Amino acid sequence: MGKSLLSLLTASAVLLTGASAALDPIVIKGSKFFYKTNGTQFFIKGVAYQQGISANGGGATSSTTDYVDPLADVAGCTRDVPYLKKLGANTIRTYAIDPTADHSQCMALLDAAGIYVISDLGEPDLSINRESPEWDTALYARYTGVVDSLAQYSNVIGFFAGNEVTNNLSYTGASAFVKAAVRDTKAYIVSKGYRPMGVGYAADDDASVRANVAAYFNCGDVSDQIDFWGYNIYEWCGDSNYVESGYANRTAEFTGYSVPAFFAEYGCNTQGGGAAGRKFTEVAALYGPDMSPVFSGGFVYEYFEETNDYGLASVSGSSVSTLADFGAWETAIAAVSPSSVNAASYSPTNTVGQACPTLGPNWQAASSPLPPTPNQAVCSCMMSTLSCVASTSLNGTAISQLFGEVCGYPGNPCAGVNRNASAGSYGPYSMCNATEQLSYAFNTYYKGQSSAAGACNFGGAASIVKAAGAASSCSSVIAAATASNPVAGSTGSAATSSKKNDASGMTFGSSLLAGKVLAVGFTVTAILSGMGMILL
Ligand SMILES: *[C@@H]1O[C@H](CO)[C@@H](O)[C@H](O)[C@H]1NC(C)=O
Ligand SMILES: *[C@@H]1O[C@H](CO)[C@@H](O)[C@H](O)[C@H]1NC(C)=O
Ligand SMILES: *[C@@H]1O[C@H](CO)[C@@H](O)[C@H](O)[C@H]1NC(C)=O
Ligand SMILES: *[C@@H]1O[C@H](CO)[C@@H](O)[C@H](O)[C@H]1NC(C)=O
Ligand SMILES: *[C@@H]1O[C@H](CO)[C@@H](O)[C@H](O)[C@H]1NC(C)=O
Ligand SMILES: *[C@@H]1O[C@H](CO)[C@@H](O)[C@H](O)[C@H]1NC(C)=O
Repeated sequence: MGKSLLSLLTASAVLLTGASAALDPIVIKGSKFFYKTNGTQFFIKGVAYQQGISANGGGATSSTTDYVDPLADVAGCTRDVPYLKKLGANTIRTYAIDPTADHSQCMALLDAAGIYVISDLGEPDLSINRESPEWDTALYARYTGVVDSLAQYSNVIGFFAGNEVTNNLSYTGASAFVKAAVRDTKAYIVSKGYRPMGVGYAADDDASVRANVAAYFNCGDVSDQIDFWGYNIYEWCGDSNYVESGYANRTAEFTGYSVPAFFAEYGCNTQGGGAAGRKFTEVAALYGPDMSPVFSGGFVYEYFEETNDYGLASVSGSSVSTLADFGAWETAIAAVSPSSVNAASYSPTNTVGQACPTLGPNWQAASSPLPPTPNQAVCSCMMSTLSCVASTSLNGTAISQLFGEVCGYPGNPCAGVNRNASAGSYGPYSMCNATEQLSYAFNTYYKGQSSAAGACNFGGAASIVKAAGAASSCSSVIAAATASNPVAGSTGSAATSSKKNDASGMTFGSSLLAGKVLAVGFTVTAILSGMGMILL
């Protein structure tokens, strides 16, 4: 069938669809997915569908500043959905969508083609960054915005709260922030009365951390745990097999997992990429008798041919050229018929989560407490009490430098904004934005210096304001925030002033904008110019 005819057919299907023909929602019971209405088990026959997102690490630390929302690109959806349908895909994974964009046309095209969606909640510039992890008001607004924009579509299965954030032993603490994001996004879905949609995590397959990451997201309070696990896994290359590839070991590791697990990306191309053609012999294994009781299918990486050569198809303007990989995957996925169970006759046996990983050199994220829930009201109330605030025009580099400076000063001025994932200790304002956090630290120092005018300057970055005066509702807001996350150690004791920002997990203040937080240190020039005094 020609492209234009396919598009035409799909377009008319959309017109006919209306609201009534919406796809049956997918629900989770135990460690499996099911169609809600008839209880037939659902296996993801998925394709990663977003241009400009790289394999094995898309998202978290990408320097990409822009992205094209594939669910708002009507021309792209119109062009590609017929091909996704021809492939036999029943789900796509998108990595970064724009919550303010209109998704109705693409979602209707997908719905008409019988295709579901799992989307990541972040975007390259606004996601949980492993180098300086946070779960703050801006991320919360982004994540809940994505949920709001997709919740109305019955073909949305759920979301990933993070992608490959902890990808080696240097970044284990970052998982605490992802888990807080999971907790809060799940709670948000419930609070809005949306139909059940899962919130999961997409992990890479790093041997040094994968077992602890998997345990961590499936341990502790159920309300903090992921609803599903996605594995980005590239172990099976060319003509491998179930045992040699490592798949047998991965399958054994997930037999006891209490929520669905699936491959969030797969398709090693070291022995033939998009144009040369992969064999996709792993597909028969993934949906076969060894793996289908444990894994609910997966997403082949990826629809679009890009420089990394993982594409099933090459697109140019409104035209699509299918590559060797296209037919190979289409054939492989058409041949699978996983044995399944109906929801009504399925009694989950994996009803208990994992034990939380032991804290130590190999795991630096406490399972409790987790970082606080971002709450702009707390930040705004806190700001209204301050008499020394940071300039709002500071750039990220300047903010990092200023944190490095003020956090080292007497009185532990950063106690209210510090984060220590291994201790599970988080200042109540650690979820506020960078300017708010810095203002809090400046003000704490200033107050500790008996409001000496010279103590609120910081090279012109700080200024004295008449405290706006907290609204009466603020006292209870602040009391609640500081009750669950006390400001520890802001006693003004000089002993705390020599604390260093070492490698053991403490982060000072916000560095989302700046990249890495600088080490705490006193710079004599900054002290001279900013403070008018010399510390020895
Ligand atoms: C259950 O519903 C789904 C989608 O509505 C359909 O694909 C599937 O074939 C149905 N199962 C049975 C056993 O009819
Ligand atoms: C983790 O990855 C980063 C960046 O690739 C690297 O600098 C660091 O050394 C790695 N840590 C370990 C423990 O391998
Ligand atoms: C699977 O695990 C066993 C036991 O730890 C190990 O000996 C074997 O090498 C692993 N297989 C692969 C392919 O990694
Ligand atoms: C950030 O601000 C500082 C101080 O105003 C300035 O010196 C620096 O050039 C700025 N950096 C960037 C990247 O804009
Ligand atoms: C973070 O907490 C751990 C565990 O309590 C502690 O050992 C470590 O020193 C703390 N890190 C910093 C920088 O205070
Ligand atoms: C951070 O908060 C301050 C004060 O509440 C606000 O003026 C500013 O716009 C915020 N910055 C960002 C980047 O949201």
